[in-house]
Amino acid sequence: MGISAKLTKAINEQITEEYQSAYTYESMAYKLESMNLVVFAKWFRIQAAEEREHAERFSKYLLDRGEEVVLKALAAPKGTWKSCLAICEAALRSEIVITEKIDDLVNLASKEKDNTTYSFLLWFVNEQVEEEANAKFLLDLIKLATKPAQALMLEGRVRRLIEERTG
Ligand SMILES: [Fe+2]
Ligand SMILES: [Fe+2]
Repeated sequence: MGISAKLTKAINEQITEEYQSAYTYESMAYKLESMNLVVFAKWFRIQAAEEREHAERFSKYLLDRGEEVVLKALAAPKGTWKSCLAICEAALRSEIVITEKIDDLVNLASKEKDNTTYSFLLWFVNEQVEEEANAKFLLDLIKLATKPAQALMLEGRVRRLIEERTG
């Protein structure tokens, strides 16, 4: 049995959202590189790669259920961020919005009594807990830098966090 047209459309929209998140994170990484915050930049490149993995996970699910993947146009990343702090704030806000979108999908699957999709979506529910926690950690960290140059000194902490997560 396939997925309802409505739910398929909603999952396709989420695939575009995940690629949009990746695109925004890449843009944030470029901005951070321009600020010489190369470790923060690396962090955001890793996030971008994770968002692409999310898009692929959704896509594979649609294909497995016999539905079509329909990609939409991406928007240019919105922000003209002035600081690492502004980027970290935007990243946390973005993850919170994604969590809400995942919740909407879960509610739709539940309403349509599509237990298979409901079960599939729970991975993302849990994943968003980590995504928000990581974004919050980075924001809390950068808040410790009261002067822009102090962000450089926090890069060691971010490097260790990357090592913990990838090593
Ligand atoms: Fe994601
Ligand atoms: Fe994310």
